Amino acid sequence: MTKIKAAITGVGGALPEYILTNEELSKMVDTTDEWIMTRIGIRERRIIREEGKGSSDVGAAAVNELLLKTKTKPEEIDLLICATVTPDHQFPATANIISDKTGIKNAFSFDINAGCSGFLFALITGSKYVESGAYKKVIIVGAEKMSSIVDYTDRQTCCIFGDGAGAVLLEPTTEDFGILDSKLQSDGYGRIHLHQKAGGSVKPSSHESIDAREHFIYQEGQAVFKAAVSNMADVSVEIMERNNLNSDTITWLVPHQANMRIIEATARRMNLNPEKVMINIQKFGNTTAATLPLCLWEWESKLKKGDNIILTTFGAGFTWGAAYVKWAYDGDKFAK
Ligand code: UT7
Repeated sequence: MTKIKAAITGVGGALPEYILTNEELSKMVDTTDEWIMTRIGIRERRIIREEGKGSSDVGAAAVNELLLKTKTKPEEIDLLICATVTPDHQFPATANIISDKTGIKNAFSFDINAGCSGFLFALITGSKYVESGAYKKVIIVGAEKMSSIVDYTDRQTCCIFGDGAGAVLLEPTTEDFGILDSKLQSDGYGRIHLHQKAGGSVKPSSHESIDAREHFIYQEGQAVFKAAVSNMADVSVEIMERNNLNSDTITWLVPHQANMRIIEATARRMNLNPEKVMINIQKFGNTTAATLPLCLWEWESKLKKGDNIILTTFGAGFTWGAAYVKWAYDGDKFAK
C-alpha cells in the first residue's frame, strides 16, 4: 500500500500593526539599541495594542489569509490545532475560538502548549492525523500575544518578545513530499529556568502574586541560552545526518527566532551558508509559537517544489526538536 505523507500546501500569516522599536524600549527600561542588536539581534517587534484583542484575533487573521489563498472553504477543514503559550483564556482552547472566528464548523480543534516549540510539536501531531488517512485538511496555527505576559519593567525579557501568528495547511500526498522525518524532545526539569510563576493551578493569581509581578515571564537567560544552543544544534544535525542531507543538499534552515547568536551557532554546527537560513528576528522578535510559520510565510514565494527544509526549535519546558520537510509546491504559485 502506498504510504500517505502530510504536505504543507499553503502558509498564512498575520502581524499587528504597532511597531515597538528599540528606541521606544530604551525609554521604558535601561537598555540601548546597540545592546539589543549585539546580544539578541532584534531591532523591532509587533505588538497587539487594541483593547480586548488576544492571540485568537491574530491567529484568525492568519487562518483567514491561508483559507483565501489556498481557496479552501472553512467547512472543508477537519482539524485545527493552535500552538500558543498565551491563550485567550485558560479555557476554552484558543483553537476553538479561532475556528469560531473563521467559520470552521466541521472540525475538532485543540491547543498545544510546548513553549516556543509549540508549532513544531503541533505540526508533527497534525501530520500523524493526515498520515493515518483519518483527515484530509488540517490547519496548524501558531498564535501569540506575548506582550500580555511580558514585564515591560524587566530589561532582561522585555526586549525579546513580539506578537504575531502564522498558519499552514496540511494535506495528504502519496508523492515523496511533505514531512519526511522529525524528532521531538522535552525535559521538564528545564522549567526552573523559564516559566510563569503565578496564574496557574499551583499558584492562582492573587493580589500578592500580581504585586510580585509573578504573572509575567520568568527567564534565566544564560541557562536557557546554553541549553538552546546545544539541543537545537544536536537535533538539527541528527535529522540532517539520518536523512543523508548535507550543507549542499539542504535548501533552507528554518530556526526558531529566539536570539541571533543561537541561530548562528546552529547554522555553524550544520556547516550551512548563512544565506540558507531564514532570519526575521530583527523585525518581529521572538513570537514564540509563531516564529517558524512566520518565516515560512515570509519566504513562501521563494520556496520551490523539492526544496529540502529543516525546521528546528527550542523553548520552555524545555522542549526542542527538528523536522525534515521536502517542500511540496512552488511558492510563487500564490504570487498576485
Ligand atoms: O524562546 C524561548 C527560549 N529563550 C531563549 O532562547 C533565550 C535565551 N537567552 C538569551 O537569548 C540571552 O541569554 C538573553 C538575550 C536573554 C540575555 O543575553 P546575555 O548575553 O545572556 O546577557 P546576560 O543575561 O548574561 O546579561 C549580561 C549583562 C548583565 O549585566 P551585568 O550583570 O553584566 O552588569 C545584564 O544585567 O547585560 C545586562 N542586560 C542588559 N543590558 C542592557 C540584560 N538585559 C539587558 C538589556 N540592556 N536589555
